[in-house]
Amino acid sequence: MAVRIDKQYVHADIVTEAQSLTEQACRALEALAAGTCRGSEWTGFFDYPQRAGFALNAQIKAELAELSCVYNHVLVLGIGGSFQGTSAVHEALAHSYGYLLPSDRPRLSFCGCHLAEVLTLECIDALDRSEPVVVVISKSGTTLETAVAFRIIKSYLTQRFGTEGAQARIIVVTDAEQGALRAFSRKHDSLAFPVPDDIGGRYSVLTAVGLVPLMLAQYDTEALLRGAASFFATPCDAQNPAVQYATLRNACHRRGKLIEVLSCSDPKLRAFADWWKQLFGESEGKDGKGIFPSTMLLTTDLHALGQYLQDGKRHLLETFLTVTAPTHDACGIERRLRIPPDADDGLSFADNRFMQDLNLAAVQGTQAAHYKGGVPNLNLTVPQLDEFHLGYLFACLQTACAVSGALLDVNPFDQPGVEVYKKNLRQLAEDAEDDAQ
Ligand code: PA5
Repeated sequence: MAVRIDKQYVHADIVTEAQSLTEQACRALEALAAGTCRGSEWTGFFDYPQRAGFALNAQIKAELAELSCVYNHVLVLGIGGSFQGTSAVHEALAHSYGYLLPSDRPRLSFCGCHLAEVLTLECIDALDRSEPVVVVISKSGTTLETAVAFRIIKSYLTQRFGTEGAQARIIVVTDAEQGALRAFSRKHDSLAFPVPDDIGGRYSVLTAVGLVPLMLAQYDTEALLRGAASFFATPCDAQNPAVQYATLRNACHRRGKLIEVLSCSDPKLRAFADWWKQLFGESEGKDGKGIFPSTMLLTTDLHALGQYLQDGKRHLLETFLTVTAPTHDACGIERRLRIPPDADDGLSFADNRFMQDLNLAAVQGTQAAHYKGGVPNLNLTVPQLDEFHLGYLFACLQTACAVSGALLDVNPFDQPGVEVYKKNLRQLAEDAEDDAQ
């Protein structure tokens, strides 16, 4: 299995409680796979690679090969599920100091995920110094942040490249039939890809939502789908990692744990942790229920949140996401770094060790310490940071989230709270316009 779940640091009573939930979780997984669960109209993400993803990937490849413009910068406009997955893959796999290095690969950047004016102006500065292609992604086609950014970027592109030149640089990912973006793509005959009806935003990274920008930025999207397919081929039984994760976190919750901290062994997983946070927060936080998702990056945040984790209020459970060998660069080439000896700093135990070994020792020490401090923690171990394993993780965690929602007795596929925010934001913007007139 590409992801291993280790419960060495989960207290025995919680493991027993989790075992008692296993049958219910397996039934929930079967219902998800059969499309008979609550919210079944949104379960299209399950097994998507085999049903449609690989074929779509080939189609996207063929259509992108026909792009008439030359580009070295891919700008994604989108918010929430429309950009988090792409950002997760990019941050995990790109060279973290790439902005200082020459590169043959197109740069990938994001906008339309906020309403911050200076940040948007800075995005235009970056467009000015590059040859951009813009992928605007919104399932509804009406989300304010993305729509505002699209207006601004469209107008920039038109001024710089003219109407036709701008159109050649815009790719749309949206609902197949309706919404403002679909109407735009029809009117201007833009290159456009659909978001399937039966897949919600935060479950959509393996559809055109993630595949189009990631392929433009030269990531191996087929490997991403292969990783996901390998998870979806896992039997619906007690060994399934999604079942194990869902039961353990729910068992912790039933024992009074209200907040789950995803502690990542590598800061390159920051955006992945944000993707996880949205997935679980938006799927489970409803009907007065849910585990609040929070994140921590090791070892950086041990110097910020470590004190609370060790010794603060005991309403926490922790899930470690540990990559055992993130020792390859963006091109898959193995890179190791030994710590040179130094007689002056009194840290002779570090002499000649690989830095990653020290990092893993720190992760393990933290797990043992937090367990002793009363924070049950499970460990999701991934052997390597690459497209295959990220694909596996996306599929596994989406499935775990759906199963976990069933154990909590909520519909993990709707987001009534987000819709309230979107409606209020629109109303406020309209009121402000009326006041100005
Ligand atoms: O998971 C969800 O459905 C949401 O987080 C959406 O992804 C987010 O609100 C963006 O919506 P849209 O793609 O319609 O612009």
